[in-house]
Amino acid sequence: MAIDGPAGAGKSTIARRVAGKLGILYIDSGAMYRAVAYWARKIGVALDDMHRLEQLAGEAEIEFRDGSARVVLNGEDVTEVIRTPEIGEAASKVATVPGVRRALVDKQRAMGEATSVVMEGRDIGTVVFPAADVKIFLDASAEARAGRRLRELNERGEAVNASQVEGEISERDSRDRSRAESPLVQAPDAVYLDSSGRSIEEVEELVLKLVRERTSNGKGFRH
Ligand code: DC
Repeated sequence: MAIDGPAGAGKSTIARRVAGKLGILYIDSGAMYRAVAYWARKIGVALDDMHRLEQLAGEAEIEFRDGSARVVLNGEDVTEVIRTPEIGEAASKVATVPGVRRALVDKQRAMGEATSVVMEGRDIGTVVFPAADVKIFLDASAEARAGRRLRELNERGEAVNASQVEGEISERDSRDRSRAESPLVQAPDAVYLDSSGRSIEEVEELVLKLVRERTSNGKGFRH
């Protein structure tokens, strides 16, 4: 199953819960772009050095542990350090590099080949698994998305204000939507869902209903 959409639409929360309900693996593909961006920052690779970034993406050993609760890069637990707005911004830049995308898409496909997965990101239904059994484009209004992101960051104790978060989200979205390589677009056969004004439970139920319609109760689909 593929869930794509802009930042703050609720993809991670919904994908994690739906995967839990169906008893299948949840994979956060954005964490992989974040991990490569973190590594580049850590060792001083410039975010416009396409060649080195492609090498890093190829060499990165990215593991998801405990149902994707922990993200491990080359043996280092990077779960928390990749969640800052700075790494989000850097990940969005790194994600414009075609060679980086190729390397990470290969890794994502290998994960989805091994077992049934719910994978969320920007290009899962369009590029990574175009034959996914269930595809969802999860969207929300700019206000709802910024509000969610702000709450998330505040809960983690980050000192950020609303206008900073709104600016960051809209800049990242326009980059993700306008890049030449695998931009964020809705796949023609994806179901559009707007999470603004809906509770997590409501969105989760809509997604599960779709899964039940498309498959025999979530069993027997690969991705
Ligand atoms: O979902 P996220 O906010 O953690 O993703 C971070 C960045 O990674 C996002 O701005 C764009 C990029 N990304 C991508 O290009 N393709 C994906 N499948 C997932 C994320």
